[in-house]
Amino acid sequence: MDTNLTSIRKELINIVLEAGKRIDGFLESGFSSHSKGGSDFATEADDAIDLYLREKLSKRFPHTSFLTEETAPSEYASFVGKDNLWVIDPIDGTTNFSRGSMHFSVSVGLVDRGKAKLGVVYLPLEKKLYWAQSDMDKSYLNELPIKVSSTSSLKEALLCCDWSWDIEKRKKTLGIFSKILPNVRAIQSRGSASVEIVSVASGNIDAYFVYGLKPWDVGAGLLIAEKAGASIRSLNGSDWTVFSSDLLIANGVIDNEILSYFP
Ligand code: IPD
Ligand code: CA
Ligand code: CA
Repeated sequence: MDTNLTSIRKELINIVLEAGKRIDGFLESGFSSHSKGGSDFATEADDAIDLYLREKLSKRFPHTSFLTEETAPSEYASFVGKDNLWVIDPIDGTTNFSRGSMHFSVSVGLVDRGKAKLGVVYLPLEKKLYWAQSDMDKSYLNELPIKVSSTSSLKEALLCCDWSWDIEKRKKTLGIFSKILPNVRAIQSRGSASVEIVSVASGNIDAYFVYGLKPWDVGAGLLIAEKAGASIRSLNGSDWTVFSSDLLIANGVIDNEILSYFP
């Protein structure tokens, strides 16, 4: 694979922008949905965009492999040590997409052994393209650098959390939620992990916590958050990677105070 991350990133961005146009097409023409078990589901657009990204990227970058939401095996431990792994969520925030809300993204990370070297999170309806690469100092929204907020007081902080598809993880989140809620300005839950992570990166929210993430939810966003100055903490105490399922991503000022509410 070409080692020039800037040229790979530019090609990746063009491919992701085209994915956004295809998503617009589905919104205009309509789409079917199918259950993935429990309350989880995917639409025809999730499958089509997943396929489109795999086909485009494998043709252009033949010596790479893929971990994508719609094709991942149920057990993916063997992917942890891989280099040049495309980690893809074709639509992160499918519930929002299916209900006509703008709060969803196409998320693509290029990952070496659990850390992304390229990350692109694209919100097609808002035309917001967040990106970062490991050999650059900053993260960007379109062409402008972004950085985390400077909120230093918990009572002024705007947090987001998310509700996993796993019921036990939802209960765990509820426990933390009720402990933190009285002490912050608000805790929102908006249904797209990647969008919450880039929202921390760009200072729109101050922190995001979640139990039960999948690598494709964060494969791009964590690099964007890190390069924008966020602190990233794995909630089980180990070092974070894109394979960490329980995370707090915060602005780096209030992270320790928020962590004091966790078990
Ligand atoms: C979901 C979203 C949501 C998070 C879920 C994810 P999907 O992704 O990121 O915010 O709470 O755990 O599964 O299913 O819309 O790709
Ligand atoms: Ca997702
Ligand atoms: Ca998805």
